[in-house]
Amino acid sequence: PIAPGFASRTVVGRGFVAKLPDGVPLEGGATIPITFVTVWYALHHLARAEAGERILIHAAAGGVGLTAIQVAQRAGLEIHATAGSPEKRDFVRSLGVTHVYDSRSLDFADQIMAATDGEGVDMVLNSLAGEAIPKSLGLLRAYGRFLEIGKTDIYGNSRIGLRPFRNNLSYFAIDLDRVFRERPKLAARLMGEVADAFAEGGLQPLPRRVWLVSRAEQAFRHMAQARHIGKIVLAMEDEAARIARPLPKPLPLKSDGTYLMTGGLGGFGLAVAEWLVAKGAGTVVLAGRSGAATPEAQAAVDRLRAGGTRVRVERCDVTDRAAVEAMLGRIRAELPPLRGVLHAAMVLDDDFVLKLDRDRLHRVTAPKIEGALNLHLATRDDPVEMFVMFSSFAAMVGNPGQANYVAANQYLVALAERRRAQGLPALAVDWGAIGGVGYVAAHDEIARHFERHGLTPVQAPDALASLEALLGAGAVASGVIDIDWAVWARYMPELARNPRYADLPLTEGAGGTGGGGGEGDQVLARIREAAAEDRQAMVEAALAARLATVLGTSAETLDTGQPLAELGLDSLMAVELSCLIEDDLGVKTPAIELTQSPSLSKLAERLLPAIAP
Ligand SMILES: NC(=O)c1ccc[n+]([C@@H]2O[C@H](COP(=O)([O-])OP(=O)(O)OC[C@H]3O[C@@H](n4cnc5c(N)ncnc54)[C@H](OP(=O)(O)O)[C@@H]3O)[C@@H](O)[C@H]2O)c1
Repeated sequence: PIAPGFASRTVVGRGFVAKLPDGVPLEGGATIPITFVTVWYALHHLARAEAGERILIHAAAGGVGLTAIQVAQRAGLEIHATAGSPEKRDFVRSLGVTHVYDSRSLDFADQIMAATDGEGVDMVLNSLAGEAIPKSLGLLRAYGRFLEIGKTDIYGNSRIGLRPFRNNLSYFAIDLDRVFRERPKLAARLMGEVADAFAEGGLQPLPRRVWLVSRAEQAFRHMAQARHIGKIVLAMEDEAARIARPLPKPLPLKSDGTYLMTGGLGGFGLAVAEWLVAKGAGTVVLAGRSGAATPEAQAAVDRLRAGGTRVRVERCDVTDRAAVEAMLGRIRAELPPLRGVLHAAMVLDDDFVLKLDRDRLHRVTAPKIEGALNLHLATRDDPVEMFVMFSSFAAMVGNPGQANYVAANQYLVALAERRRAQGLPALAVDWGAIGGVGYVAAHDEIARHFERHGLTPVQAPDALASLEALLGAGAVASGVIDIDWAVWARYMPELARNPRYADLPLTEGAGGTGGGGGEGDQVLARIREAAAEDRQAMVEAALAARLATVLGTSAETLDTGQPLAELGLDSLMAVELSCLIEDDLGVKTPAIELTQSPSLSKLAERLLPAIAP
């Protein structure tokens, strides 16, 4: 296993990103930033090197040393260099450096004095430790600059006399890590200057040996032998690499803890409550506006109580700050410490965004957003170890007709990230369709709608196993979705074209099964090749087939003379149909036109000129 510091992806501030120079492979690019920015900072920013000056580069066959040779040559400096073995010194000479000395002995000082007629050098780029430091300092002539990139002597608090500094010498200690952390603007500027210099030409990435990441151990052994020249690069594109899933930590549910679940008396909520108890929760508080109002809710509560669990049913509107505070006051006074919060309250009011007004927006956003915020603020001083917010697949990829719900759920994801940034526990789960219990399972037409979009319901026990895995892995925001992306992409062509989703298996054969992508091209071709008098009927049939898919029926049963709305096409389905028509027949038809269309024949008539011009 390799340390978490190695990753195939990382997130950095945009100032620290530069374009890979033309013609440089990724592995070459990996050798550039640290070494070149270090040297650029030292030679140009600190030492203000001028053409014609002399520089001593210690350990010149190392990454920074090789970089310094290039930058010094480019700046017109006279180079003196040391290296630790005959091979390394040969390599340095092969780069056009004529004054090369042994870094493992202190003789370099006298040799350099001799080679420079007793003048010495203007700059020393040092990474050697111990005695080499005063020796090198002694080589500086007036106005000389000592550039220290080593750390041993600084952290060891070594002493050097100040006398040489009477000659207007300067000493610079260089710790690039700190520049990146504490002077990000400067670091970004240096990155930019290096990138520009590469673009002007003349600079090369460093010599390197590339190891596949599955052989990281050998790469480290090789490095420890210190015989390499230049850089050692680990390449991530490695078929043999195995990704180890972090071992899930056991759920921290406590028998002497209280677990509060909003929406806990709803369909999915009750299943989660039973799971909490099965995982060891001693006390659960189930909160909703109407309490255990359904027979299922009452039965579930009875079942849990019969098993010995303390179950409290709270009538509480989570959007009401004072009510939330009061409920928490009761919990603190009467129940074990609050260890977990699960926020699953929701209200739906689906419609197209143009039809939503402030009230309808608020009806859906309030329980999610205000509810989550109230819980977040009111429980900050409780010993909460888990804070789970129930979001939806819709928040991840959008869903026509659910703008309010999407916005509400996206807030939960953002709050999860914010809480984690504050060091608080948080997880937002984007659930796909849940099977067996909950809203989707109770609404056939929605379940069918999802299925047409490629979503297979995840049964509650599987969903909860995933929840456990996510909690164990320390996830912040994650989806639990069983989906055929190719089918989804067919219904959501606009969305699927978004580069955000470029890495998903959106086309048939990439793992998808249904959908029938590519069929569209054939239909279109057949219509266009057909005799003019046959085309109308063919378009009608193609439209009927697509309408049937959306309605979940067969094309033969559809009366092509009836208004589409009377055939059962509602506004959500109209969006789907519009997508299918665009995808397969290449014409854009607003959903509203479809719902108002007097018949399939009339629709075919209207679309025909655009389909087969
Ligand atoms: N079921 C699914 O397939 C699915 C898919 C994706 C995401 N999810 C997410 O999973 C969660 C639970 O879904 P579900 O299917 O169990 O929904 P559900 O059966 O409709 O349950 C939602 C519960 O929230 C409660 N609630 C609504 N407003 C409230 C408020 N202001 N204060 C307190 N409680 C409130 C409701 O009870 P009262 O009316 O009594 O207040 C209801 O029992 C939701 O957050 C949903 O977004 C579910």
